[in-house]
Amino acid sequence: MTKRIGVLLSGRGSNFEALAESVAAGRIPNAEIAVVISNREGAPGIERARARGIETRVIPSKGLEREAYDRQVVAALREKQVDLVCLAGFMRLLSPYFVAAFPNRILNIHPSLLPAFPGLEAQRQALEYGVKWSGCTVHIVDENLDAGPIVTQAVVPVLDDDTLETLADRILKEEHRIYSEAVRLVLEGRFRIEGRRVIQTAAEKRRANEA
Ligand code: GAR
Repeated sequence: MTKRIGVLLSGRGSNFEALAESVAAGRIPNAEIAVVISNREGAPGIERARARGIETRVIPSKGLEREAYDRQVVAALREKQVDLVCLAGFMRLLSPYFVAAFPNRILNIHPSLLPAFPGLEAQRQALEYGVKWSGCTVHIVDENLDAGPIVTQAVVPVLDDDTLETLADRILKEEHRIYSEAVRLVLEGRFRIEGRRVIQTAAEKRRANEA
């Protein structure tokens, strides 16, 4: 059966686009993006979704209490019978209500090696801190900021002549790659969670090694 993905975004939408490409190319098999929701009017990601003929909703968050807002988003996701929610540059903390509505079925991508540098401008934080390696993380979402069990990570070097842009670009390429891999793993249900650890089942490891 085709699994239905709901994407939430606030801005540019390059991670959404990477997921859409992976679905189209069969790298995320038996799946479709059922809806793209933004909390911001005019988010470029919404235009990108429209251009692909994917259904979009703008649900403005301004002035609303967190849970009141989340109830609207959850209702829209349920209406579209979404199996998995992917946060793709969705710059809002989710309420316990939202998290409970999709238990272990919400993923987020973050541009650092969590738990280092959560929050805004993770790439700038990494550069200013002086780390030699950074990267990105896909994790299951809980009520805390950029927390929750880690599904996968990718590492990139921080070079001496890096600017914010060159480092962010290097990380973004890896974001686009690992987000699709994580979505596939989770949709296929080939993992179990032990405490904070997301353990891939043997069948999934075999498939990854053969690829
Ligand atoms: C991405 O770098 C994503 O990792 C980051 O926002 C950017 C969105 O870009 N997310 C966070 O920082 C979440 N804490 P995109 O709109 O082009 O996908």
